[in-house]
Amino acid sequence: MTEQTSRRVSTSDDIEVSTYLEIAKEKKGERSSPTQEPAPAEREAVVILDFGSQYSMLIARRVRECHVYCEMVPFDAPWERIAALKPKGFILSGGPASVYDEGAPLAPHEVFESHLPVLGICYGMQLLAHQLGGRVAKGVKREYGHAILHQNMSSSPLFADLPPTLPVWMSHGDHIVEAPPGFEVIAYTDNSPIAAMGNREGMIGLQFHPEVAHTPQGKTILKNFLYNVCGCKGAWTPGNFVSESIEKIRAKVCNGRVICALSGGVDSAVVASIIHQAVGDQLTCIFVNNGLLRREEAERTLSVFQRNLKMNVVYKDASERFLERLKGVIDPELKRKRIGEEFIKVFEEEAAKIGQVQFLAQGTLYPDIIESASSGRGAAATIKTHHNVGGLPKNMKLALIEPLRDLFKDEVREVGLALGMPEEMVFRQPFPGPGLAIRIMGEVTREKLDTLRAADWIVMNEIKKAKLYRDLWQSFAVLTSTRSVGVMGDDRTYGYVVAIRAVTSEDAMTADWARLPYDLLARISNRIVNEVPAANRVVYDISSKPPSTIEWE
Ligand code: XMP
Repeated sequence: MTEQTSRRVSTSDDIEVSTYLEIAKEKKGERSSPTQEPAPAEREAVVILDFGSQYSMLIARRVRECHVYCEMVPFDAPWERIAALKPKGFILSGGPASVYDEGAPLAPHEVFESHLPVLGICYGMQLLAHQLGGRVAKGVKREYGHAILHQNMSSSPLFADLPPTLPVWMSHGDHIVEAPPGFEVIAYTDNSPIAAMGNREGMIGLQFHPEVAHTPQGKTILKNFLYNVCGCKGAWTPGNFVSESIEKIRAKVCNGRVICALSGGVDSAVVASIIHQAVGDQLTCIFVNNGLLRREEAERTLSVFQRNLKMNVVYKDASERFLERLKGVIDPELKRKRIGEEFIKVFEEEAAKIGQVQFLAQGTLYPDIIESASSGRGAAATIKTHHNVGGLPKNMKLALIEPLRDLFKDEVREVGLALGMPEEMVFRQPFPGPGLAIRIMGEVTREKLDTLRAADWIVMNEIKKAKLYRDLWQSFAVLTSTRSVGVMGDDRTYGYVVAIRAVTSEDAMTADWARLPYDLLARISNRIVNEVPAANRVVYDISSKPPSTIEWE
């Protein structure tokens, strides 16, 4: 381990780590019933058919927030795949198409023949009208923005516990001029006489978007659909997720051996913890230090997993190899590529030494799956190649275990808490696989890494002291390639410009620069120019994503 990582500073985090150890020890003794909540006999699921709306993923998040398991599938997914989920209802998402487009995507007829509840949102509502005998008119003008929804006299279970008028968010071109036979108009707005409609079978159409924050009571509307119309009970909780996963992993692994790459991040930590609780020493974690980690990162990760939790961890300090591969590399994408390739090599070498391994555990999350499985209409250009360090080796002949593949990031954190992991670990801000390499502009050198580590440590320290760490999606230092003139005492200096990046975000798809208090910025700046010899100027990055990105490279 490098000198940097072996330096130790005591912080309040250590207390939380020891609490974790106590809980983990207790759990170790309870392998046959690891959590209090029993696994539900049958998981209740709702299927979201994705027609390509930018909000589709949000619908899934909101449904999960109501503790109902859901899966989002492309609208044209094979019916057997959908039926296998035994859905209690369907949600048809919005989408950019018009039902009048040639080859417009349609909902599978089986949805309507199933006699299960269906919630059509925006384009989904237009499909209900179009496919069930109503009439959709082509919009001349898009309706976009806030609207006030008025409920009609008839009370719908969808609006239970809600006032008669509600602010809602509209974003549509076409609109419905005639509800299909058997449907009743249940709400209207000034511009949309048919803003919500429903029939006795629990088929409901909404012209507005209940999933977005601009519809403040939207979550209650979705919850009413799930609970009052589909009859879901809300059994999707982190506790029973853990017990369900443990049972599944034990059944799959039997007496086999599992390897898992630890990155120090929350996803791989949760994966390792679940698998360890399921199969104990049959799991070996591999922790590759690529030399691009933050100060103390390697030591802390090792101490929790190896020394304290007594997990089998193979630690490989490959810093030299990575630095060698990064020599002279300036292009950000080439940096990522080299780091990714080197990681695979080191990981495979270490895995080969373990031998007799049948399973590879990875921290793949639900958004990764959706991205690759979704209908993909209007696919975005590759902005950056994101290497998930936990999931690289593709040519290893190992069966995959991906216990988090159904979860969103915030659910992973909840599961982490349910596993008894310390908040410090569970609420860690995301850290990219290529690490500090993409926060150093230009060539990565040992000297620049040391400078950035020192500056980054101060940023993290001050943000934590100001109790803002958890309010921020990410906060870190960037080492620019610009040097500027300064004066220290009587001497002229010519040092690096360090940039501070702090953003708020829900999912990293969009982000806003954090309005950090000036006093805090002043403290960070003073400390950096005084404590980091190679830096003599600090700037604050006030760009949002888009058009900028969170990381600088
Ligand atoms: P950007 O910079 O694209 O980042 O706005 C969005 C989120 O992704 C993280 N990120 C990465 N994570 N490998 C990773 O594992 C990468 O190459 C990578 N690049 C960016 C970034 O930290 C942010 O949370």
